[in-house]
Amino acid sequence: MNSDPFHVRSQWTEKREKGQPPEPEFPGRRSFFMVLLGVGGAFVAALLSIPLIRYTIYPLLANTTKTSWSSLGPLDSFSAMTQPMRKTVKILQVDGWRESVSEKPVYVTKGTRPGAQNGIEVLSSVCPHLGCEVPWNENRGQFVCPCHNSVFAADGSYVSGPARRGMDTLPIESQNGDLKVRFEYFRELVPDKEVMG
Ligand code: FES
Repeated sequence: MNSDPFHVRSQWTEKREKGQPPEPEFPGRRSFFMVLLGVGGAFVAALLSIPLIRYTIYPLLANTTKTSWSSLGPLDSFSAMTQPMRKTVKILQVDGWRESVSEKPVYVTKGTRPGAQNGIEVLSSVCPHLGCEVPWNENRGQFVCPCHNSVFAADGSYVSGPARRGMDTLPIESQNGDLKVRFEYFRELVPDKEVMG
């Protein structure tokens, strides 16, 4: 018996030289180890890449908005208002790795929902239906969303349309007689107010 490990190969070479067709080559032990090595390498590479992927997409998964308290003016100055008053607050928007400051309109209005201060509450102008900006319609004495016609009363409560709840009240507080508000985003299309960020 020939102990040369390349004996088989030599036979094939001889056959080739004699013009005979070579015997089919079956995957041997070496092919098996090559496949095993490939699968193992791919598995290790996938494991090592998880932290990198998480680090890369973290900004997309993280909160996209950071806000702080903004002053809206003396609380007393709103006690005589006869209709909602539009104000703007600054918001720091985090979009992936980029940060930008934007302004959002809010409405100071009279209301008694939880969190109101001296009968004053502040409404987000973001429609709870699909997020359009809801303006105050002075002629109608109501908030009317221009996108799908949801209608809200002066205190933000739901009147009609596809929105599933009233306009959202924002957290407010009074500091040394100054009315302060913190802007938040809320989940749309749900019947109950749910903070998103
Ligand atoms: S976004 Fe306001 S009614 Fe649809």
